[in-house]
Amino acid sequence: MRAALLLLLLWVAGATTALGQTTDPNRIPPHLDPARTANGLALTPPMGWNSWNRFACNIDEATVRAVAEAMVTSGMRDAGYACVVVDDCWQGPRDARGFITADPERFPSGMRALADYVHSPGLKFGLYSDAGRTTCAGRPGSQGHEFQDAMTYAEWGVDYLKYDWCATGTRDAEEAYALMADALRATGRDIVFSICEWGQNRPWLWAEKIGNLWRTTGDIADRWDGIDRWMHGVLVIVDRNEPLWPYAGRGHWNDPDMLEVGNGGMTVSEYRAHFSLWAMMAAPLIAGNDIANMDESTREILTNREVIAVDQDRLGVQGRRVWRDGGREVWVKPLAGGERAVLLFNRGEEPAEIEATWEMLGLPESLRLRVRDLWRHRDLPPARGRVSARVPAHDVVMLRLAP
Ligand code: GLA
Repeated sequence: MRAALLLLLLWVAGATTALGQTTDPNRIPPHLDPARTANGLALTPPMGWNSWNRFACNIDEATVRAVAEAMVTSGMRDAGYACVVVDDCWQGPRDARGFITADPERFPSGMRALADYVHSPGLKFGLYSDAGRTTCAGRPGSQGHEFQDAMTYAEWGVDYLKYDWCATGTRDAEEAYALMADALRATGRDIVFSICEWGQNRPWLWAEKIGNLWRTTGDIADRWDGIDRWMHGVLVIVDRNEPLWPYAGRGHWNDPDMLEVGNGGMTVSEYRAHFSLWAMMAAPLIAGNDIANMDESTREILTNREVIAVDQDRLGVQGRRVWRDGGREVWVKPLAGGERAVLLFNRGEEPAEIEATWEMLGLPESLRLRVRDLWRHRDLPPARGRVSARVPAHDVVMLRLAP
């Protein structure tokens, strides 16, 4: 009897360790843990909508409901945008037992009800938290409450967690994100895990089996170029995210931040280029505009299925720049079935002729390929050896080449 009790105690102690308590000094560090496997989610880059870029802290349940409805009526859901994510500022205080609550003024019906509402037309529901004591907007963070929060999210029906890095002090990033990944896994619910530490700890080197996507830069601004403190223009982000192409793959993606398409700070050409570059980089396509009130040119960009298909290609290879001369660039993304997406990208202030040769694309010179223009939705004459186009300033021509 006594022996049986002892065995039971030992078994319980072992199980606790397996659940991943970091307080155990004997615990294997996450990157050396042979048992940690990827969660099997996000085999193509996640698609959805997030409240932050357009609404920041001015978010409430009526706005989220209106967006969820508009995701359906605008065709966004059917184009592949699956998840509605509420970013910072949804949190109220923790209750007496330490459980997180929703802000009672902004979300009086609670998160469970909101998740149900978002789920009803077949959308997924996401939330935001932070690995520190507080979020970036000063709401309660998850530090010290990881398993409790993960359990709460699972009960509410959360399908996606964006996990930020403010107020983390001296915490080790890999440990902190691995702990939350374990907590999410322990719920038994499929929850996509979005790492948001802005590339500061080089997550591409350690996060492959911890998260499904990791931010590679500071925050995106609704502008073409330049940096203003924490806010980064599209070109700045592109140049930081592009060299990381070898680290992306099915289930684990570089995240150059959410889309600004439709927020008003850039021209239609610039938004088309922004969207095309994100698709070439196999980036998560998380719209950040007011879906319920978007104009037709915004809707056309965001729901261009031919461009989305490049982003979502099942090969899961991030595209890269293969040639540049001043403001003229050629990008290529290998696709399943031996196809290629090619981007002729003009950063310059004047229209420019840009040519992609088969040599740049790593193809035999004599190969004859079919050519499809993904923005004009038109087949062009088949090409051999090279393809070229006149590209307006701050714009792109995006092609798909097929044998
Ligand atoms: C950080 C993140 C943003 C957003 C805000 C919310 O800046 O990088 O994407 O989530 O916090 O406070």
